[in-house]
This record gives sequence, C-alpha cells and structure tokens, in this order.
Amino acid sequence: MNDLLLKALHCEPISRPPIWLMRQAGRFMPAYRQLREKYSFRTLITTPELACHITQLPLKMFNPDGAIVFSDILILAEVFGFKIDFKENQGIQLIEPKGQPKIHLHETLNCVSQTIQLLKKTIDVPLIGFCGGPYTVGKYMNRLSFEWLQQITQATIDYLQMQIAAGVDVIQIFDSWAGYLTPSEFHTLSLPYLKQIMEALTPSKIPIIVFCRGSSRFLQELIQLNPKCIGFDWEKEMIELRQTVPNHMAVQGNLDPEILKGDLNHLKLKAQKLIESMQNQKGFIVNLGHGVLPETPVENVQWFIDYVKSFRSS
Ligand code: CP3
Repeated sequence: MNDLLLKALHCEPISRPPIWLMRQAGRFMPAYRQLREKYSFRTLITTPELACHITQLPLKMFNPDGAIVFSDILILAEVFGFKIDFKENQGIQLIEPKGQPKIHLHETLNCVSQTIQLLKKTIDVPLIGFCGGPYTVGKYMNRLSFEWLQQITQATIDYLQMQIAAGVDVIQIFDSWAGYLTPSEFHTLSLPYLKQIMEALTPSKIPIIVFCRGSSRFLQELIQLNPKCIGFDWEKEMIELRQTVPNHMAVQGNLDPEILKGDLNHLKLKAQKLIESMQNQKGFIVNLGHGVLPETPVENVQWFIDYVKSFRSS
C-alpha cells in the first residue's frame, strides 16, 4: 500500500508530501455528472456499489495518495429521521422527520460500512472515513440546543466506531462552519463536542484530521484537542501555520479552490509557491483549503496532483 499519507500524519520523514483533495470525487468529473443524470445524490451515497465506484473514479484518473469514502456528513441526520434531498439549484436540504422516529444507527448507516468493506478489498491507498462536527451537522438540522448537540455527538461517535470497524485508515472531522463562530460560541457550541469525539476515539489509535473553515482563528483550541493533523483553509500561509503547530502534529491544506479552478499558469505559480515554501517540512499533506469546485477543469486537477507527485524534497 502507498503509505505516504500515514507517514505524513505521523510526521515521519518522506521524499515528497502526499496529496489528496477534499471533494476529489464530484461534479467537476464528467463521469460523476453522467451518473447523476441517472441517479439521485441520495441513491449514490446509499448504494454501496455506486459509492465504491465513485470513490475510485479520482483514484483511476489522478492517482492521489488517499481515497475518501463517497458519502456526505449529512447522512447522519437520517439516523434522527431526517431525509436528505438534493435538488439542482437548491443545494442540499434535510426533510424534517414526522413524529418521533426510532434511532437505528447501524441499520441506517450500514450502507457506509458496506461501501468501506468493498473499497478496502480493491484500493491500495489509505481510506479516509469522515463525519461532520456536531455543530456543523446540528446547524444543517436546525437543532442547536445542548441536548441535540449531545445526541448528535453520541451518534457521531457510534458512526465513527462503525467506520473504523469496517476498515477506514484515517478519520477527518469536517466542522466546516465552526471556525466562523465567535470565540464564546466556539467554546460552547463546537469545542466540547469535538473534545468528546476525540476522547472516545483515543483507544482506537486511528489518526484524526480536524478541519474547519477558518481553523486558524481557533488554532490553540484545535491544538489542545491533540489531533494527528489540522486541516486549514487559505486565510494564512501554510509555512506560518507549520511553525505554530507543534512538530508532532501534521498540517493539511491549503490551496484556495478558486485558484485550482482558474487560470493554469496562475495555478502553477501558486502551487509551486506552496510546495516550495514547505520543502523539507515534516508532517505536511497537500490539499485544498475547501472542496474542489464544480466548474474546476479536470486538466488543472491532473496538473496539480502530477506536480506534487513529481516533487522531491532535497
Ligand atoms: O470529499 C469527498 O469527495 C467525499 C464526499 C463528501 C461530500 N460531502 C460529497 C458531496 C464529503 C466529505 C462531504 C462533506 C460535506 N457535506 C460537508 C463538509 C465539507 C464542506 O464542504 O464544508 C458539508 C458541509 C456537506 C453538506 C453538503 N453536501 C452541502 C452543503 C451540499 C450542497 C452544496 C454542494 O457543494 O453541492 C452537499 C452535496 C454534496 N456532497 C455533493 C457531493 C459530491 C454534490 C452533490 C451533487 O451535486 O451531485
């Protein structure tokens, strides 16, 4: 197995940084768009054979150093009786549950377990499982009371344990919206729940990446959570972040997805600046600062991944 990603997470010396991209399987790929003409988004993420196939599309095209399970953070809401609905031009919606649904986590999310098991038989790069941060999931569910955040946290822990049992090698927590909270809101609505998740997963020893948009705003708090890695957006330079984050903790990011989407020459300039500035730094994983945008040219993604893969630390 290509274990560059795992080595980078453990801050071991490696010849070049590993690369994978958030939303590396998605609308920017013609093959994905073709599937979406036939199937709803919900069908794609709840049918293991389809989800497994889509997870592998970017692996076959670009050969990145990691795979991320094709799913969505909002699938967890289905455990509470919500239903995911994705309509073109309206984005994602959660349809409210009727009455008091019974919680059957393992039944509802068994499809994800099956997808992971199928993938583990076929891929030769580490598989990244994931969840949303309880605050971010609660925000989409319109359920932000402490009682609800606590219930979402418990379900998230069970869900991650299920993914680990099914075989994922790494976990990324996407608390996408937490970084934009005020400090006091962050301390009450996000941090305590992230802490519970981190503590519950400590015995499993699985490497955990914590990602928020705006994570550099709460850097000290995120460091205190003691994840293996922190994922950053492009608000600050990566080298500056690398010098602040403790040496035993990896950093991931942080090219602006608009740059990946834009002019190829500009992309080349910015990507070279990022990679060269991080030359010889341990614990660096190349990624975007948020997901690949739907209009991104396939050639740009191909160039970016090839460039990082051809890089050699001196
Ligand atoms: O990264 C990957 O390739 C793995 C799959 C993945 C998806 N969503 C697939 C998806 C992951 C890790 C996510 C995470 C996710 N989902 C987050 C956290 C990261 C972030 O983007 O901030 C959030 C907030 C969601 C919720 C969500 N899902 C929204 C708000 C939307 C609509 C907006 C959009 O970007 O399309 C989705 C839909 C979604 N999730 C799509 C995909 C491929 C697009 C579906 C389609 O158009 O077919």
